[in-house]
Formats: sequence, structure tokens, C-alpha cells
Amino acid sequence: MTDLAEAYDPSEIADVFGDVRDPYPDLANARRANPVERIDFGELAMGDGDPNLPATPAHDTYTVYSHELVQRVLLDNETFSSSGYAEIMGVLMGHTILEMDEPEHRHHRGLVAQAFREKTLARWEADLVRATVDELVDNFAGAGHAELVRQFTFPFPVRVIARILGLPKEDYVKFQRWSIELISVTANWERALASSNALRDYFKPIVDQRRSDPSDDLISDLAQAELDGNTLDDEEIFAFLRLLLPAGVETTYRSTGNFLYALLTHPEQMEALRADRSLMKQAIEETLRWEPPLLFITRTAARDVELGGVAVKAGSQMGVSLGAANRDESRYRDPDTFDIFRDPGQHISFGFGPHLCLGMHLARMEMRVAADALLDRLPNLRLDPAGDDPHIHGMIFRSPNRLPVVFDS
Ligand code: HEM
Repeated sequence: MTDLAEAYDPSEIADVFGDVRDPYPDLANARRANPVERIDFGELAMGDGDPNLPATPAHDTYTVYSHELVQRVLLDNETFSSSGYAEIMGVLMGHTILEMDEPEHRHHRGLVAQAFREKTLARWEADLVRATVDELVDNFAGAGHAELVRQFTFPFPVRVIARILGLPKEDYVKFQRWSIELISVTANWERALASSNALRDYFKPIVDQRRSDPSDDLISDLAQAELDGNTLDDEEIFAFLRLLLPAGVETTYRSTGNFLYALLTHPEQMEALRADRSLMKQAIEETLRWEPPLLFITRTAARDVELGGVAVKAGSQMGVSLGAANRDESRYRDPDTFDIFRDPGQHISFGFGPHLCLGMHLARMEMRVAADALLDRLPNLRLDPAGDDPHIHGMIFRSPNRLPVVFDS
């Protein structure tokens, strides 16, 4: 399995906006000038005719930057609908809770949420998450050096999900391949669609089997879930399982990379954390505020509405800038500084309101277990001084492509 993960290059999961290192100065300028900004596509080179770039949208498009207005949009999901996700994500994933509005969303989320409660997760920590982390670290702990993205953060969450789903060990390699191909959608749409179909065919007999003979895993939980006499049908389960790949694998591999990057580039804070693990919780929250793995989400205005003094027409596309909200200076002192000693308050990296990330407790647990293991097992961990300028990049999804490190073995 390691071979497969290492054979894939994380940079394949390309960003159509190119190699953006630091979008934050532009986001801050935009937030200060217009907390709700109408995007003028006349000034942007869009990809009309070029299938690799987004085409000019038919409706008005806005971006929302301030913490206050981002929260307002995400809280009011009657006015700001999630249905726009159906056009892109829906084709690949199927009809998922991400694209549902109320009351369908509330009802459906109630069915799947049972498996993601913090208490339920405790049973996965030692046997699944810590075991996965230790297996990966075993592969390089004796070497004195590693490239932590390829050898650690990239393969880590997909293996956790495979175990949580209770997939047979001999299937891990193909599951990982389909997962990586599905989330590399911007690199190859046809391949992503083929993987989406392959995943459905693969899950079908497993779901059948878990319905008749449930065991202690997430697919069994979903197959058995019942609320007010309703259950999930097969297509709903397949869609949810596919959603876990972009929602639960891509975000977490990136946030774990961002966490390690933040610590490695702030060695004094890494040492403070190594010495006092009670700082772990706020270090994770500060990482999520400072460098969220996902910078933008979207909504569609379901009616004419006034937002931040701007008249927004029904049908408008709303880009919601989680990254700009997390660095809003009216909310955070010195927002561009990574500081694990601050109280990051309510960052927006997991969204807000009814669609608040369902996997946030799992994501936090994975980041904590990963950081604990590396701090415990790799003494004197530091960036490789001969390494090739590792940095976080991306405009929609953000994380480092490489993290070359050395340590005492
Ligand atoms: C640091 C890691 C993660 C980040 C930053 C993150 C971020 C987000 C955000 C911003 C949303 C809201 C999207 C919207 O409102 O349009 C969301 C929703 C969701 N996330 Fe996460 N996520 C992470 C990890 C996970 C994990 C590990 C899982 C599951 C294994 C997961 C499952 C979901 C699901 C199912 C939804 C849809 C919830 C709904 O629509 O009601 N996420 N996530």
C-alpha cells in the first residue's frame, strides 16, 4: 500500500488557479474594500472553450469575505442554498447531504450523523487511527529522514477511512487507487468518473452483506441507521461513501500537512508543544484558522437579498471565503501570525450552521494522533536544510506538496 501512495504525486491534485503561495494579502485587501464583492468576469480570463478551466458563469457571482457575513450566509440556508454543488460534485458523488437543503438535509444528516459523534469516534482512535499512524511511521523512523507528504500525510487518511469502513485488507490498494483518482478530478475528469462507478460496483456487495450481517464498522452503521422509521437506500449509502473521499480524505491529508508545516516553520512553538501536550487542542485550532485546507465553499442565492449593503439577485453564485473570514482583523489580533498560544475562537474552517462539517471530530482526532506520534517517535524533528523550499500553496485547496525532514534515528 505504501508503494501505491508513493507512486501517486500529490501535486496531480492540481488547482486551476495555479501555484498560489500566499493569497492572503489579496483576500485582506478585498475584505477591507468590499466584504461582499461582485466578481467582474470581464476582467478575468475564464476558460470559455478551454475544458480545463471554468467557463464564465451565467449568473452574477459574488465573494463574501468578512467573518460576520460569512457566518450569516452559512447560517441562513433558506436564503443561501447548497444546491449548486449538484452540478459538479453531484455528478461524481451522487445526491449527498452536501447539496441538500432543508428539510431534506436535516432529515438525511440525522441518519448519517449518528456514526460521527465524538463518543463513537473514541472506539476508532487506538485500534484504527493510532495503528495506521504507527504503521506509516515504522516505514521511515529508522532512516533519519523522510518526505512527510508522500510517506505520511498523503496515505494517512485514506487508510483510516478504509479501516473505518471495515474494508478487507486485501482491497486497500484498489480502494486507495479509486480514492486518489476520484479526488484528482481536476487532473482527469474521465478517470474520476470511472472511479466513481468502480466504487459503486465495489460497495454494492459489501453493503448487501453488512445489511444481512452487520459488524462494527461505518458501512454497517449506515446500513442499519434508522430515524423516524426511515432508512438509507443503497444509492444514498454509495453517495455518502463517495463523499467521504473529498470531504474526509483530501481535507484531512491537507490539514495534517499544514499542521506539520506550521510546527516545522515555527520550531520554538513545536518545542513548546512537544513539552506540553495540553497545548495540542489550541495548536490544532490555530492551524485550522491560519491555514485551512479548503479556502472557499459555495452557495446559491435562493431569493433576492441584501447582504452587507449589496443587493444580491436570486440565482447568484456566492463564493464564501473561509480563508478571508479566518483572518478578519476585526475578529483576530495580528491575524496573519501563527500563534498556538492564542485562543483561535470560532474559526470557520469547518463551515458554520446546518452544514457544519460532520467529520470535524474525526479530523481533529487524526491531526492530534498524527502530531503526537511524530513528536514522540522522531527526536529532534526539523525541516531538512537541504530540502527544496517546502511551502503551502493553492487557491481553493491548500497544503504543502513536500515536507522533507530530518531527525535523530
Ligand atoms: C480538517 C479537515 C476537514 C475540513 C477543513 C473540513 C471542512 C468542511 C467544510 C467547510 C464543510 C462545509 C461545506 C459547506 O457548508 O458547503 C464540511 C462538510 C462536511 N464534511 Fe468536512 N472537513 C474536514 C474533514 C472531514 C472528515 C474527516 C469527514 C468525514 C470522514 C468530513 C465529512 C464532511 C461531511 C459529510 C460534510 C457535509 C456536511 C453537510 O452537508 O451537512 N469532513 N467539511
